[in-house]
Amino acid sequence: MLNLWYKNAVIYCVDVETFMDSNGDGIGDFAGLADRLDHVEALGATCIWLLPFYPTPNRDNGYDITDFYAVDPRLGTLGDFVAFTHAAHDRGLRVIVDLVANHTSIDHPWFQEARRDPNSRYRDWYVWSKEKPKDIHEGAVFPGVQDATWTYDEAAQAWYMHRFYKHQADLNIANPEVREELEKVMGFWLQLGVSGFRLDAVPFLIEYRGVPEEERPKDDPHLYLNELRSFVSWRRAEAMLLAEANITMDQVNEYFGPSGDRLHMIFNFMLNQHLFLSLARKDAEPIRRVMAQTPAIPLKSQWASFLRNHDEIDLGRLPDAERGEVFSAFGPAPEMQAYGRGIRRRLAPMLGGDEQRLKQAFSLMFALPGTPVLWYGDEIGMGDDLSLAERNSVRTPMQWADERNAGFSTAPSEQLVRPVVSGGAFDYRSVNVVAQHDLDGSLMSTLQRLIRTRRACPEIGWGRCRVLETSETSVLALRYDWHGETVLIVHNLADHAVEVQVSLDEVSRLRPLFCDEDDRTMRDASEPIHLSPYGYRWFRAHGERR
Ligand code: NOJ
Ligand code: CA
Repeated sequence: MLNLWYKNAVIYCVDVETFMDSNGDGIGDFAGLADRLDHVEALGATCIWLLPFYPTPNRDNGYDITDFYAVDPRLGTLGDFVAFTHAAHDRGLRVIVDLVANHTSIDHPWFQEARRDPNSRYRDWYVWSKEKPKDIHEGAVFPGVQDATWTYDEAAQAWYMHRFYKHQADLNIANPEVREELEKVMGFWLQLGVSGFRLDAVPFLIEYRGVPEEERPKDDPHLYLNELRSFVSWRRAEAMLLAEANITMDQVNEYFGPSGDRLHMIFNFMLNQHLFLSLARKDAEPIRRVMAQTPAIPLKSQWASFLRNHDEIDLGRLPDAERGEVFSAFGPAPEMQAYGRGIRRRLAPMLGGDEQRLKQAFSLMFALPGTPVLWYGDEIGMGDDLSLAERNSVRTPMQWADERNAGFSTAPSEQLVRPVVSGGAFDYRSVNVVAQHDLDGSLMSTLQRLIRTRRACPEIGWGRCRVLETSETSVLALRYDWHGETVLIVHNLADHAVEVQVSLDEVSRLRPLFCDEDDRTMRDASEPIHLSPYGYRWFRAHGERR
């Protein structure tokens, strides 16, 4: 059997800057992260995804890079990166890193040279226009804070293209020298031991916007994804590409590749938006709907499932009325929303701090087809800080303990990279790792149990998934089959108890694996299943089959 580690991984996303500060300067760093690997390991994660940690003026949380081959000095040295990676590997944890191939900071020496000197070899590494482009206001990703996608540069006497903020100039991916350089960047980090990349902004990477027609490669732009795949695979067999690509279901085949030889994994943004609609409606229909629309994917491909991440929840693919439903349930106030399309809150405040709902949301995410990805701090139900700009609201320091600065740093509080959440229901004095550690029933312990259960169910990553009919629309019943094994997982999204009959061909007995009640009794598969409000139950088919 192919050993495709990412098919059943549990990925934990960390922002080094806000995780743990080892030297008391108020900024998280690699030494601090290495010191807190116990936490990640105890949680049961199998892979750490690092948000960008490269040198940066930090105008977009590190997604504005000035050197692809180094570590931002505020976070440590390259030596600290290697020491951290080594420590992670010692614990059986893989490391993947963010790769921002679509753009650089305008402070990057490549861009600086490109703008200063029209004859520089770097000029054509970016996308320029001598004339003012007609579409300068089209396609801005951050409406409200970004007003154009082209900006005039005095030194260059030309307009440069930027899909994101104006301080992030798009690279010209049609230029073979840029492709070669990006390979060098990937080769560099692979050589340092990473197991792959979270590829930023993939749809923009392959669209060649602004590149003159005659300079664009004539073949299908998706073939660039084959090129990236084969490069990383030859450099390191286990290397995995996880794409940030908010695509529709009709694009799925083009991104995974007809035989699964493009991107290994793609974040399932469609499922994410429908999951929140389901939670808002207390009805599983939106999830069933999107699952029915999802095409089968090749064996080597995998979805990445998530609840929250470092950005806003992007609800842009939902029709206005449905997006409105999610807004009114989870982000009704204007300051909770972002860019007219999303919610910039953490999961716990969205669900009103309701532990049963939180546990269910995680259980649901782990039960859906794909590999679960967690955002640091959500495992303890951290809150957010809406007084911070844009998406920084969900990027506050990790809450380790009821100690000064939540145990994140010994620096004076005003020196912290961002303030810790204090006051209100999510105050670090009550919501922290120490408070939940080894405490039966705490969110963190439940998540640990859930992760253990999920890791013991390879059927979910590998198997065939079927959505089963039940009489209750609030119930999502999933059946996975793989190598003669069967797993059944049921969730009740309603706020009232229900009882459902699930018909299971070829299965006679069910053994409870994980649920919100203390249930250890083997049951007959034909018995109705009771589910409490927001309840969940995981079973494995046991013993003789009919
Ligand atoms: C997507 C990242 O997730 C987001 O945080 C960033 O602002 C943009 N790409 C630009 O790199
Ligand atoms: Ca530090």
